[in-house]
Amino acid sequence: MASIPLKKTKKAKAGKGKSGSFLSQWGMFFRQFIKHPGMIGSVIPSSATLVDRMLDQVDWRNTRLFVEFGPGVGTFTRPILDRLPADGMLLAIDLNLDFVAYLEAEIDDPRLRVVHGSAADVRRFIKEAGHYQADYVLSGIPFSTLPDGVGAAICAETRRALRPGGAFLIYQYSRYVLRFLNPVFGDVSDALEWRNIPPCRMIRAVREEDMAQAA
Ligand SMILES: C[S@@+](CC[C@H](N)C(=O)[O-])C[C@H]1O[C@@H](n2cnc3c(N)ncnc32)[C@H](O)[C@@H]1O
Repeated sequence: MASIPLKKTKKAKAGKGKSGSFLSQWGMFFRQFIKHPGMIGSVIPSSATLVDRMLDQVDWRNTRLFVEFGPGVGTFTRPILDRLPADGMLLAIDLNLDFVAYLEAEIDDPRLRVVHGSAADVRRFIKEAGHYQADYVLSGIPFSTLPDGVGAAICAETRRALRPGGAFLIYQYSRYVLRFLNPVFGDVSDALEWRNIPPCRMIRAVREEDMAQAA
């Protein structure tokens, strides 16, 4: 699927929006869940506690390219931009065109690039954005409801898209995704965050350093 440069409308700053109130974000999210339950995978966006705990794992000072899979209404997107260095880029990839258009209209930040497409094509999107590899990839994609083969492809492509030492950070209601991560990442760990509806697993998979570089 192609990356679509949408026609820009007048936008608000990150964190605010013309219709970006808490309630309108929840309304937009819920409507999309009714339309595409398997693609969205959740009735409401992630909690602020989950967002903070996931993003606290990131070494922001050394982050130049951060990739987000499944930004939805921007629950993580805005806090990522709040933490990202001035010369960093956030590449947000979502399969749902309504979410892509919503983010394009709501967030005005030159560091943000929103593209419509599948996370399985992450390496092509990174190349089109003028980068080689990502420092971090964060995912809210519902792996347990993806079509056959897509979850495994996304995890394998994400490992290739990360720089050595880079991390794939996943928030998820179950450990289902581990079956795709364990064959391709050497270092996978997970923890539970109760303060989310429902409680959520926080999974971290690190791409091992190249032996030549480590020596
Ligand atoms: C549970 S929502 C997460 C929304 C938001 N990040 C949050 O935390 O509240 C899952 C998101 O993944 C997107 N998605 C599903 N499959 C995808 C795929 N293959 N590639 C990219 N995005 C995908 C959906 O459109 C949706 O925005």
